[in-house]
Amino acid sequence: MKFFIDTANLEQIKEAQALGVLDGVTTNPSLMAKEGITGAENILKHYLDICNAVDGDVSAEVIATDFDGMVKQGEELAALHPQIVVKLPMIADGVKACKYFSDKGIRTNVTLVFSAGQALLAAKAGATYVSPFLGRLDDISTDGLHLISEIRQIYDNYGFETQILAASIRHTMHVIDCAKIGSDVMTGPLSSITGLLKHPLTDSGLAQFLADYAKGN
Ligand code: E4P
Repeated sequence: MKFFIDTANLEQIKEAQALGVLDGVTTNPSLMAKEGITGAENILKHYLDICNAVDGDVSAEVIATDFDGMVKQGEELAALHPQIVVKLPMIADGVKACKYFSDKGIRTNVTLVFSAGQALLAAKAGATYVSPFLGRLDDISTDGLHLISEIRQIYDNYGFETQILAASIRHTMHVIDCAKIGSDVMTGPLSSITGLLKHPLTDSGLAQFLADYAKGN
């Protein structure tokens, strides 16, 4: 399972990269705004800084909602750096743009996916990644994990190569449940990755080992 971090915060990206388990980064316009990155030029520069900070795929989202605009912005983003994956919204023009980019060998991430039907369309259009939003479904009392398992089954039935990128991960149990279901990738905040480290028996066991070592030295 690949681990992506879902942030535009360079310090957090570097911290996850330093842990040695990071496979990529996802961003979105809200995450960019949260870091105070505004204006096309600053946003493009920030994508470059992220690519230079991480070994792996960096999803960069288009803002346009029409086919021509998505193609123009997506081509500009893809030309920025080989690590860039063009992130497209799950709307009709987004599906058309996904097909356009996949035909050209440009990698894509179809985002804002909330149903198995949408995921099927993204795979048919040749998406590299499909991003079902687990946490946002859970937020409205809908079983996000069930959606991930439906997509897994559909993709396995037909051998689609589109990778399931479980997005909107909120905590460590989401990560573990997605791993059990067979999600190819998860993207979440730094805490969803570092939280996996924690166990009180590890801490107390280590403290005991160190205390026993100290007795003999
Ligand atoms: C996916 O790529 C999105 O950036 C993200 O996972 C959305 O997460 P949120 O629901 O926590 O905003």
